[in-house]
Amino acid sequence: MRYIDQAPSFVQLHRPRADAVQPELIAGLLATPARIAPKFFYDALGSRLFDAITELPEYYPTRTEAAVFAQHGAEMARHLPEGAVLVDLGAGSCAKAARLFPLLQPSAYVPVDISVDYLRDTLAALQQRHPELPMLGLGMDFSTRFALGPDSATWLQERALAQRPRVVFYPGSSIGNFQPDEALALLCQTHAVCESGGTGGGLLIGVDRVKARTVLEPAYDDALGVTAAFNRNLLRHVNHLLQADFAPAAWQHVALFNADASRIEMHLQATGAQTVRWPEGERRFADGERLHTENSYKWQPEDFAALLREAGFGEPRHWTDANGWFSVFWAPV
Ligand code: AVI
Repeated sequence: MRYIDQAPSFVQLHRPRADAVQPELIAGLLATPARIAPKFFYDALGSRLFDAITELPEYYPTRTEAAVFAQHGAEMARHLPEGAVLVDLGAGSCAKAARLFPLLQPSAYVPVDISVDYLRDTLAALQQRHPELPMLGLGMDFSTRFALGPDSATWLQERALAQRPRVVFYPGSSIGNFQPDEALALLCQTHAVCESGGTGGGLLIGVDRVKARTVLEPAYDDALGVTAAFNRNLLRHVNHLLQADFAPAAWQHVALFNADASRIEMHLQATGAQTVRWPEGERRFADGERLHTENSYKWQPEDFAALLREAGFGEPRHWTDANGWFSVFWAPV
């Protein structure tokens, strides 16, 4: 008999306690140049602003990736195992993975996201639409280290799913927000997660490709200023986490393509000299000084395929759109 969950299960490995992240935030603010890690974009408002970015005409990655799935999804499905445990990294609204359910027919859905409250809400709504699909939400910061953990292993065993192949789905080119060495570490950990399930598993991952600056820069500096709001919202979030007194309006959004490093860089630039204070410290910023908030690496497909092989995956294949702007890779274990 098929197991029927009434409500999604939830394992919260990441407790969003402000004091746990304060040392990391302070170290970044005191560094030269100052930096804040992009994972701090995603408080509840930041997650919603990111959803809005994906609707913008300038932000091509989301709709281009969707076009790749629409055009090649059926062929991809022929290479992927049926009845897999679908692990969705950085699930957010869970919408992209939900669109794959008819193609992949997963036996369980395990979304993973740092934004715990947002994931809890979206997963509860999704479970209502798919009452027969076992769902386990994992609230964790997988950017530090990714593993499913003992509670998930027990959950899978209890449902006789431990020996199902595991397909890790990591869409949206979020891998681009890691430096290449960090990306390799995450891919190695992902390989270990796939390998510890049944045979036939692997990684299905969306990767944004190198292209003209005239396409890249507007995608990160849109006419409506939504990306600017997303960038500045980071300061509101840091104010909350650190009891700091950033004035978001005193910072200008900057997005530029660094061709040598093959990445979009986002910064916040101080419009006037200012001192930012928190309970046990402060940082002076000169007029025009920048705070680095995000890198978004753009890959050549052959370089990304080499990274997948280095992480231990078998021979990858990929599908792309008519312009060759975005690739979806399938990397078997
Ligand atoms: C989540 N990540 C893949 C986005 C990107 O394109 O690097 C984040 C983003 N930053 C600004 N716009 C979108």
